[in-house]
Amino acid sequence: MDDGSSRRATLTRRSLLAGIGAAGGAGAMYAAMGVLGLAPTRETAPVRPSAGAGAPTPYAPPSRSDFSLRGGGGGGGAPATVLVLGAGVTGLAVAYELGKAGYDCTLLEARDRVGGRTLTLRGGDTVTELGAPGAGATPSAAAGETQRVTFGDGTYFNAGPARIAQWMVTLDYCRELGVPLEVFVNSNANAYVYTSGTRTRLRTARADAHGYISELLAKATDAGALDARLTGDDKALLLDFLSDFGDIGAAHSYTGGERRGFRVDPGVAPGTELGPPPALSDVLGLGLGRMLTMDAGYEQANPMFQPVGGMDAIVTALVGKVGAGRVRTGTRVTGITDRPGGVEVAIEGGAPLKADYCVATLPPHLMARIPGNLGAGVTAALATPIPMSAGKLGLEYGTRWWEIEDRLYGGATETDLDVGHIWYPSYGYHTQRGLIVGYYNTGPPAERYDVMSHRERVRRAVALGGEVHGARYGEEVVASASVAWRRQPHIEGAWVRWPSMEAFSVLQRPAGRVYFAGDWLTHLIAWQAGAFESARKVVTELHHRVLKEG
Ligand code: PHE
Repeated sequence: MDDGSSRRATLTRRSLLAGIGAAGGAGAMYAAMGVLGLAPTRETAPVRPSAGAGAPTPYAPPSRSDFSLRGGGGGGGAPATVLVLGAGVTGLAVAYELGKAGYDCTLLEARDRVGGRTLTLRGGDTVTELGAPGAGATPSAAAGETQRVTFGDGTYFNAGPARIAQWMVTLDYCRELGVPLEVFVNSNANAYVYTSGTRTRLRTARADAHGYISELLAKATDAGALDARLTGDDKALLLDFLSDFGDIGAAHSYTGGERRGFRVDPGVAPGTELGPPPALSDVLGLGLGRMLTMDAGYEQANPMFQPVGGMDAIVTALVGKVGAGRVRTGTRVTGITDRPGGVEVAIEGGAPLKADYCVATLPPHLMARIPGNLGAGVTAALATPIPMSAGKLGLEYGTRWWEIEDRLYGGATETDLDVGHIWYPSYGYHTQRGLIVGYYNTGPPAERYDVMSHRERVRRAVALGGEVHGARYGEEVVASASVAWRRQPHIEGAWVRWPSMEAFSVLQRPAGRVYFAGDWLTHLIAWQAGAFESARKVVTELHHRVLKEG
């Protein structure tokens, strides 16, 4: 069942952008970084965005006092109008920041709900997909299956973004918007790694890896194999380090120990340790280098955070600030015309809308399909990024058996199966029901689930997850929901990959009065933080222009 693709698919920020470096080379990468930091000069700009690559200055949102300069000062001029295409995090953040300065924004959202990929599913929700694509191909426009979600009260499923790193600007918005946070357990020593049909607690796998690596290095050092590299002092320091790092004792041999875990936990009695480790070759054979270091990634380090009650709390708070009346859902854009004095946006079933400016936050592959006069270069650039697949399945259980029996409170089991990651809930501990993410996969494994019906997804995921957790894993599911992002209407992808950096640079600049924004125009693809960062950049540029041009 393992085609190895999930183990090879190293989902890191750098790998998402790797297409750029590979195709454009370092020169293109730096050029684009420069574009990202393009700043208006001080004279024209009371607000200073990043001064250039490597020298960011703090973001200052446009403020009402800046804006009152428009039209010669005094605040007499009518506010500039802005049509924001898309009411995901980017579009909402654009409208929120511009709204602070008094701009008159209207958001056009094709879906019947706001939030874009920030999708939190609860009982009573429905999920409708587009018709099945061929694996990796464009989904058919015909409506596909509709799932009716029947989760119990209090259960939610973040089908899109679910975790926030401490350094991300998303947390600043949570602070500003009053969105309460709790820890998202991203790595759990008590969770499992499951490779080559073997289930091991993460703590055990880590102890064995650290132990054996330390033993090998210590023995090589003892044997003088590193003498050309190390002074006598360094050798002593290295051995000292390895003895703690790998818990290998004075003999420099790894024989296991309590880091591996206990068969019977200590209490009044000392407990019974798991026992000696498997042989070195068996430990190496598990191929765990990536899985043991998930939380070493800059984006993935513990602790991570989540909004209490569901990721859509961020969206709800943004809509509250922007004003629900400014958001037109179910409104599909069918044309964009840039004119010297303004932008005209055609919509399905209604009169065209006009505004001074437009900020387009739709996924680029969808923008590329909208007719308009933005020019062949822009259209080609929009068609360049490649939409990627990712999927998640929420499995609700009537009891939280993983807490009771596995002693697992949040975190993830990493597998080499096509389910990818299995997540345990970081909320609602000790309540009755609970929701496990039965798969979170990307790339080829996700493409495999893209083409399945919901039922087929559940059947496969519980069969594979059952290898990790046993028969009950399939038998005790009380409700489920799945999302294949490639098949979500008006989104059609989990995120994008850039095969060329040139197109990335083209879209950092406005096409006349039309600006582009989204995580796809940042080095934080597939993060809400990318959406916020891009929104801030575009808002800053647009505002400087308005201050200058009136
Ligand atoms: N943000 C997504 C996640 O946390 C996708 C992603 C993973 C992006 C890892 C970059 C690195 O799963």
